[in-house]
Amino acid sequence: MLRKLLIGTALGSGLAFAAHAQDVKEVEMLHWWTSGGEAAALNVLKEDLAKQGFAWKDVPVAGGGGDAAMTALKAMVAAGNYPTASQMLGYTVLDYAAAGVMGDLTETAVKEGWDKSVPAALQKFSVYDGKWVAAPVNVHSVNWLWINKAVMDKIGGTEPKTFDEFIALLDKAKAAGVIPLALGGQNWQEATMFDSVVLSTGGPEFYKKAFNDLDEEQLKSDTMKKSFDHLAKLVTYVDPNFSGRDWNLATAMVIKGDALVQVMGDWAKGEFNAARKTPGTDFLCYRFPGTDGSVVYNSDMFGMFDVPEDRKAAQVALATATLSKSFQSAFNVVKGSVPARTDVPDTDFDACGKKGMADLKAANEGGTLFGSLAQGYGAPPAVANAYKDVVSKFVHGQIKTSDEAVTQLVNAIEDAK
Ligand code: BGC
Repeated sequence: MLRKLLIGTALGSGLAFAAHAQDVKEVEMLHWWTSGGEAAALNVLKEDLAKQGFAWKDVPVAGGGGDAAMTALKAMVAAGNYPTASQMLGYTVLDYAAAGVMGDLTETAVKEGWDKSVPAALQKFSVYDGKWVAAPVNVHSVNWLWINKAVMDKIGGTEPKTFDEFIALLDKAKAAGVIPLALGGQNWQEATMFDSVVLSTGGPEFYKKAFNDLDEEQLKSDTMKKSFDHLAKLVTYVDPNFSGRDWNLATAMVIKGDALVQVMGDWAKGEFNAARKTPGTDFLCYRFPGTDGSVVYNSDMFGMFDVPEDRKAAQVALATATLSKSFQSAFNVVKGSVPARTDVPDTDFDACGKKGMADLKAANEGGTLFGSLAQGYGAPPAVANAYKDVVSKFVHGQIKTSDEAVTQLVNAIEDAK
């Protein structure tokens, strides 16, 4: 109610009044960080802002991958009810910027030298038409395996370096009566795993051409067909109850030792953190077999809306806090991601985090850093949604063969472009 009044006042009275009105000491944030690990990471930010006297107005919309959150955001924005900021992925930021509803953080960015510390791969999505419209929070990468160490020891497993070795490892788990692969049967989880499968099957150039350039020759190639074959093989190692399972429940299966491995972005590590588990002792993080040397990334950005004058000071405080070096370390240590700045020391990060940071640097320098198609960094949302849909239909048997999957993928992407 209070907020409605404030907005009404600011809009109704025009800028002259708003400029003199007392600033609203509140940050309203829409996000999909509702799992244990995500909530713990978000707390780092809430506490940071609370210390500066800003109240936190939480707008959580559960649903990994953010589809539900983005639907909610669309409705809010259509109603003219802009949050201070919203968690967003890559191309979505650009869509909102093109729609003219984003604010302009350039003054703060220039003062704080963001352009020198934020990697170009992220600036491509946080800067629109020369203006900073979003504050990058982190860099996640999707091509990881998360393995229960005790189960791994029990079955005498070692790090799988190729897809065939991965299958041999899954077979060992199966023979020992453990669920080999923990998967949540939701389209974004399946597609996130398929990003890794495609990179592993076709190599870095193939991934880039198919999933970043949307090159039709690659999309309809035998290599893509083989990637679907590999996906079909992986799905044979999933338990029968996987449909609809949330990603963090799949992570919990690995944490508890009910399953050997999950293929997931490094937000999974946030769940191991929250359960007080240590890499090397309780769990292992390896790159998805055959993808070492490449990083398929996404980055959570706080898209900053064009809020009324009296809410801008809070927005600037949020942006400054987000990009500060100390916050980038503290938050990402908890979240499982790595900093969105290149000048943050890895001192406080665990072994997986240190590897994540080194991998990101090497991939960035070596030209093997690629946007995740499943996670909003490969292509605009309509294409990503078409992709997720085809992959999911294949996993759940509505598309029966790899041939048909390839045809449908090509058509769906073409229609969505
Ligand atoms: C986000 C992560 C989040 C994950 C699961 C991804 O799209 O980038 O921050 O933890 O979804 O909710």
